[in-house]
Amino acid sequence: MQDGHGERDVQDALLDYINARYAPEDSLLRDVLETARAEGLPSIQVSPALGKLLALLIHISGARRVLEIGTLAGYSTLWMGRAIPQAGSLISLEVEPRHANIARRFIAQAGLDDRVEVRLGPALETLQLLTDELQFDMAFIDADKENYPRYLDWALRLVRPGGLIVADNVLRGGDVLEAGATDASTKATQTYNDRVAADPRLEAIVLFTRNGTGGVDGVSVARVSDDVSVAAEQYYRE
Ligand code: SAH
Ligand code: DHB
Ligand code: MG
Repeated sequence: MQDGHGERDVQDALLDYINARYAPEDSLLRDVLETARAEGLPSIQVSPALGKLLALLIHISGARRVLEIGTLAGYSTLWMGRAIPQAGSLISLEVEPRHANIARRFIAQAGLDDRVEVRLGPALETLQLLTDELQFDMAFIDADKENYPRYLDWALRLVRPGGLIVADNVLRGGDVLEAGATDASTKATQTYNDRVAADPRLEAIVLFTRNGTGGVDGVSVARVSDDVSVAAEQYYRE
C-alpha cells in the first residue's frame, strides 16, 4: 500500500481497476446512470462489476428466462437483458411508475423490448400473476429489503430445479451482524441469509460487494437443487 492511502482508497482504486477492465460501460449504460441522476432517482443500482456478474451467471448457467424484482432505472435490467438469448425473456417488477417508465425507455433504446418487460405494481401482487407462466431459470431479488423472505418464497416456487436465486444487499454495511436487531430491513435480511444457508434445496454463497457510498455489502448467489431426492423430500414435507 502506498503512503497516504488508506484501506478505503485502495479498495476504491481496485474497484475502479476491476470495473474498467472487466465491466466497462458503453454509452447506453452511462446514459441510464446520467438520466437516473438527472431525474433524482436514488443512486442504488448495482455496480458495473455486479452487473457483469449477473450477465456472467446467465451465460454460465444458460439461463433463458429471468425474473428481476426491483427495476429502478433499468441498469441491472440492461446488463441481464443483454445477456439472455434472443428467444429468452426477462420480466422485471417495479412499483414506481416513474422508475418503470425510465427503464422502459432504455430497454427500447437497447433494442431489447422483444424480450425484456417491466411490470408495474407492488411485487407481492405482480408475482402472483406469474404462477401461470413458465418457470424461471434465474431470479434476481433487489427491491424492498423487508420483503426479502417473501421474495425468497416466491423464487423457490418460480425458479426451476438447477436454476439460480441471486439477491443484492444481503450484508447491509455490516448491519446483519447485529444480534437482536430491531430494524425491519435488517431483520428481514438476516432471515433471508439464515434461510438460504439452511435450506437443503439451496447451495449458496455470499460475495462481498461495495454499495454506491462505499459501504461494504454482499450479493447472495444460490442454486436450486436438481437432486430429485431433495426435491421429493421437500414435496412430502409440504
Ligand atoms: N436492480 C436495480 C436497482 C433496484 S433499487 C439496479 O441495480 O439497477 C430497488 C427498486 O425496487 C426501486 O426502484 C424501488 O422503487 C423498487 N421497489 C421497492 N419496493 C418495491 C415493491 N414492493 N415492489 C416492486 N418494486 C419495489
Ligand atoms: C441501497 C443499495 C441498494 O443496492 C439497494 O437495492 C437499496 C438500497 C443503499 O445503499 O441504500
Ligand atoms: Mg440493491
